[in-house]
Amino acid sequence: MLDLGDLGLDEGAHLMIKRALARNGGGVVTGSAPSLPIDLPAWCRARGHACEQRGDGFAITAGPDRWRHAERAGGDAPVARPPARWGLAARGALVEAGAPELDLPLAVWADEAGRLYAQAAAAQWDPATAIPWDAPAEHPDEVEDAVVQVMTYLIENETAALLVPVRFLGKLHPQFREVMQLLAIQAADEARHIEVFTRRARLHRRELGLSTASGQASLATLFDEHDFAVAAMLLAVLGEGSFLSLLWFIRDHAPDRCTREVARLAAQDEARHVAFGLAHIAHQLTVDPPLRGRLGAAIERRHAALAHTAGLNEEVFDALVLLAAGSWEPAALRRGHAAVVALGREMDDGRRLRLGRLGFSADDAARLSSLHTRNFM
Ligand SMILES: [Fe+2]
Ligand SMILES: [Fe+2]
Repeated sequence: MLDLGDLGLDEGAHLMIKRALARNGGGVVTGSAPSLPIDLPAWCRARGHACEQRGDGFAITAGPDRWRHAERAGGDAPVARPPARWGLAARGALVEAGAPELDLPLAVWADEAGRLYAQAAAAQWDPATAIPWDAPAEHPDEVEDAVVQVMTYLIENETAALLVPVRFLGKLHPQFREVMQLLAIQAADEARHIEVFTRRARLHRRELGLSTASGQASLATLFDEHDFAVAAMLLAVLGEGSFLSLLWFIRDHAPDRCTREVARLAAQDEARHVAFGLAHIAHQLTVDPPLRGRLGAAIERRHAALAHTAGLNEEVFDALVLLAAGSWEPAALRRGHAAVVALGREMDDGRRLRLGRLGFSADDAARLSSLHTRNFM
């Protein structure tokens, strides 16, 4: 027996009826709202409940439960192969049967994703206030040209680092919530890097530097990979890993405080991107051991595809030498040149170390590192 008093169905009385039906599966409903004799049978019909007017009120029997075929969309941890019928439902939600299927077939996981996302969210920085844009710059004009050339090259590479993962993100099943969040904030990181490198390039110059065909050819091959783990190996572990050394190099040799800071802050973010790439591949190797062979093959394939190109373009190489030299004095150029040669070795050391951490033998790591694109990314 449920008495609605004078509360009408157009005033929220349906909440009381739903609650009673959920508890008892049916019963007699009474009430004095004038519209009740019309509203209540119509409301019941629309929901498949039986409703019969009797002397003592409306006898209602609950119809079939629309949630009887619902299923729980995973739990605390994601399920390995979530079905398309879960659509956009939050992980852990009870999903009603019959929701539209969505084509989000990609499964990407790493246990570290949640922690790296939290770290990234806490480490976001504001380009307007984090960079000393007004810091004095007293280096020669041609060193400034070198900085502009290096920035131009960085922007191009950052653009690839933004677009390649985002294409995967658009296919990622929402079951992998933490990875989705991490890739989104990583895209925001790259957007910020593009902003600060552009702003630094244009700080004292109206025009940007050169974009070379070989540099673009190297980045274009990153768009050919359709396996997330392979893309993560090429872009994150090898490419962004090498970029970490490059950004540290710019930080350590920059002729002005502003350039130093854009490189330092970008490197902080890149370290997280590399960490996620490593974590994902390490996870994937445990569930798909043959992946190791595919990763090696992909590095060799990319090397073969780029064998006819020039590698790191002269313009970038020379700009790095001049940036590190800081002047045209022969002794300074010798120092700058030696620093760039040392940078190449440092990048190679880093790649071999990371490949080793993924379980590649020292010989394989050395060989695969040597096949990595000479364009750095
Ligand atoms: Fe970046
Ligand atoms: Fe990155």
